[in-house]
Parts: sequence; structure tokens; C-alpha cells
Amino acid sequence: KIPVIIDCDPGLDDALMLMLAFGSGRFDVKAITTSAGNQTQDKTLFNALRLISLMEVKVPVYRGCEKPLLRELLVSDHVHGESGLDGAVFPAPVSEAESILAVEGIANILRESEEKITIVPTGPLTNIAAFLLAFPNLKNKIERISLMGGGIFRGNMTPLAEFNIYADPEAAAIVYDSGIPITMCGLDVTHKAVVFQKDIETFRSIGNKTGLAAAGLLEFFSIFYRENRIELEGGAALHDPCAIAWLLNPDMFKSKPCYVAVETNGKLTSGATVVDYFTVLQKEPNVEVVYDIDREQYIEMLAAAIKNLP
Ligand code: BDR
Ligand code: CA
Repeated sequence: KIPVIIDCDPGLDDALMLMLAFGSGRFDVKAITTSAGNQTQDKTLFNALRLISLMEVKVPVYRGCEKPLLRELLVSDHVHGESGLDGAVFPAPVSEAESILAVEGIANILRESEEKITIVPTGPLTNIAAFLLAFPNLKNKIERISLMGGGIFRGNMTPLAEFNIYADPEAAAIVYDSGIPITMCGLDVTHKAVVFQKDIETFRSIGNKTGLAAAGLLEFFSIFYRENRIELEGGAALHDPCAIAWLLNPDMFKSKPCYVAVETNGKLTSGATVVDYFTVLQKEPNVEVVYDIDREQYIEMLAAAIKNLP
């Protein structure tokens, strides 16, 4: 099993990411840490606890930072709803968050682990940057960071900036400059990782409570895409599970190692991931930039994972 710490801001597509992570049975999830992003820290933390109750899994959940490193908190309630998980009914959480904060929790886990651990962030990178600032000597215990964020050619908050990077560009810059190997599933790939109504029906027809919740969440998620992203033909870009799916089967994707830096100052481009796709800078690549996916296999992988859950 692949040892991972998942840092997320559930979030509708984060919920599907967690279903894939736990349902695949291929990960040893050491912890979930929550970032403020799609909703406030209170809500993303509560949502993570509700999701693990739904899936009946036991895993320590740590509260993350309340705000981005330098900027004001920016939530994404127009996509994910007031609760951050609109569209499905959840059981009340059966467990509570750990008493220490995410940065301490990550540090303890890495310090005590004999093997290196992969970090999977699918929200703004505040917690991971804060951790790297607080515990630089534990950096070598991180195997890789497989994240959802950024993109080569486009953004969804501004023409060039994607939400997770745009929400906390200073944190993203710290992570991208850290020297830790990074896999970036940005909008280039996630806008090909589309889920259509027929796929939602596939998840619903599995008939278990996780499948019903997945279908409800994706119905709500699709509304935003139907109203705003006509080029996806009525489908919704199922971003976050890509960061987990790449770890499960990188052959399902196309990617290219590139040097990537994060723009923190640009007047028009703040929060953009600047990808040196044509190697004009002649710098050592720091990121495996993922840009394509076998969509059918992705949906099958998600359905198989949901089937394995209650
Ligand atoms: C990313 O932003 C959030 O709204 C989603 O959960 C995803 O992580 C897509 O830009
Ligand atoms: Ca997310």
C-alpha cells in the first residue's frame, strides 16, 4: 500500500477523491488534513469528518490553517454550495478532529515513519507550505507531492490562474520551489477528466450509500459546469480524484517533466503556474506536468472504488 497524507478542502470533487483513495484499497492513509478553500476551515473540517463517517473508515483528521499565508480567505461556495458539500445528505460525524493542528500532525507522522510518505493536496497549499516552513528538516521524509492545481494553458479564476493556486499563491510558490518531486494535475488534464450524467447514473446504480452520495454531490457540481463551461458538453470537470488516480495508475495519463514556477506578483497573472513547456529556461524540471487522461478508465476506476465502500 502507498503511504499517503491527504490535504483537502471538501468540496464536492474532494469528496470523490476521498472515495477513490479509500475505496481503491491501495493506500495506507496516515491522515487527512483540511485546508480552507472551497469553504471555511470549520466547514471543510466538518465535511472531512462527515465523509469518513459515511465511508465508515477510521483515520485521524487534523484541522489546518484558517487563512492563506498572506491573503484574505477566498471560498468557492458558488461551486460547492453553502456547506461545501451540497447535494447529498450525510450522517453526523462519529469522530472528532485530533487535538493538535495539521502542521504538527504531519510532522509527527513523518518523523515516526520509517518509509517516505506521499502528500496529496487537493486544496490551496497553505498547510503544506506552513509545514515546510515549520519543519524544513522533515522535507526528506516526503516521497512526492501529487497535487491538483494550476495548469499549463488556462485558469478558472482568472484566464491564467486555477483556484487552488490562486487562493494562496505564496504557499504554492513555497511548495513548487521546495525541491520535493511534484506531480501536478492541473486544468489541462482535469478538464478532460469529465463526468457526464450517464456516469452519475452509473455511480447511483451501484446502490450503496457512498454511490448515492457521490451521485447527489455530482448532480450539484454539474449545475455550475452546465451554467458556465459549455465546452464540456454538459459534463463537469472532476478535478481532485486525478491526483489520487495518477498514483494508482500513471499509465492512464500523459505527462511531461517541466520546470514550473508560481506567479505571485503579476498584475494579470497572480496565481498562475508558469510552465516551461518548451524548456526555454534550460532549468532542471521540478514538476511532472499531467495534461491528458483516459477518461473511460478514470470513470471505471471511480466506480470500482465506490463499489468497495459501504
Ligand atoms: C479546484 O478548486 C476547487 O474548487 C476544487 O475542489 C478543485 O480542487 C479546481 O480548480
Ligand atoms: Ca479541492
